[in-house]
Amino acid sequence: MMKLTTEEQEMLEGKYGKAAKKSMEILTTLGDIFEADSMVKVYGVQIAGVSYANLGEAGLEFLSEMAEDGKVRVLTTLNPAGMDRENWQALGIDEEFAKNQNRVIDAFAKMGIITTCSCTPYLIGNTPHYGQHLAWAESSAVCYANSVIGARTNREGGPSALASAITGKTPNYGYHLDANRYSQVHFKVNTPIRGTDQFGILGKIIGDKLVEIGKKIPYISGIPIATIEELKSFCASVATYGGTALFHMEEITPEYDRYPKPSDNVFKIDKDDMNQARLELIDEDSEIDFVSIGCPHASIHEIATIAELLEGKKIKKEFWITTARPTKKLADAAGYSKLIEDAGAKFAADTCCVVAPIKGRFKGIMVDSAKACYYGRAKNKFKVRIGTLEQCVEEAIK
Ligand code: F3S
Repeated sequence: MMKLTTEEQEMLEGKYGKAAKKSMEILTTLGDIFEADSMVKVYGVQIAGVSYANLGEAGLEFLSEMAEDGKVRVLTTLNPAGMDRENWQALGIDEEFAKNQNRVIDAFAKMGIITTCSCTPYLIGNTPHYGQHLAWAESSAVCYANSVIGARTNREGGPSALASAITGKTPNYGYHLDANRYSQVHFKVNTPIRGTDQFGILGKIIGDKLVEIGKKIPYISGIPIATIEELKSFCASVATYGGTALFHMEEITPEYDRYPKPSDNVFKIDKDDMNQARLELIDEDSEIDFVSIGCPHASIHEIATIAELLEGKKIKKEFWITTARPTKKLADAAGYSKLIEDAGAKFAADTCCVVAPIKGRFKGIMVDSAKACYYGRAKNKFKVRIGTLEQCVEEAIK
């Protein structure tokens, strides 16, 4: 059994209201299953399962109950929803769905959650520092927080993340503990890796191998430098293909030399492996009628690049830039949005090409993200093609 503080015990007994009681019940059950000895304080929370398409009426009912007296104690943001909250009509979302999606967001808002819907909370102010404990849910963001920032979080489900938001606590197990943060397998990269597409492809190679050999935490060497955009793409991909929530990258991530480097289980990755994996992310007979950039959500750097590439041009295919609303506001202020929208491309803030209900609406999607390839095929039944950000923009103009 877990050792609880007086306050935690009182929450469990209902002294802090119904939602706090329910939350503490969820967290102590989880803690007992995973043999946590105590709770830890979380600095911030990120909640997934926000799309009405995933939650349905049952999920909404749970949220509404929690919202009756539940209030969050720590900074909490949401994962992408099923639609752009301001621009849903232009993106072809039906009214009934929009109504239900807004009911979900309203329930979160009532609890004091910041209703920014983004898979890159770390780019928009829900930004932890090294060593801080979190309760985050989105797999790519969990991987980024653990690996790139050196914060500590398990991959939470929707209810446990909400429970942590309401109590400010999470059970101390899994990635919160040093003992579970050692790498188990070493990947030596022997070829230059550049751009969001290549980092995504690398994530697929490593993720696939991890699944094959039944390991979770890779140590990666041979990458001399990486941008935030490349790392977010890598995180999304390695989490998708390998279920990875933590990696260490030599000279790049903050904990790479905190634990011993694995000496057995060493794999090399070369140019041929990269070429082969790229081919696996290109459907031969793909006819592209949809281009989307921003999986994970586009940064202001990426938007600036797209604006520059689109200036004075007209696109011929449906082209979405998916991003967090605060990033979109920054793009508005900088004048990037106007250049992009004048070219005919659309912003899809709060949502993305995977969570929006667009199954079957397009034949083929071109992206710079290996994660979007996976879900484009699996969830939305699109043919897919991966390319650099520049190639994606060219495809939209072609
Ligand atoms: Fe984010 Fe959607 Fe990709 S949630 S990581 S943009 S699939």
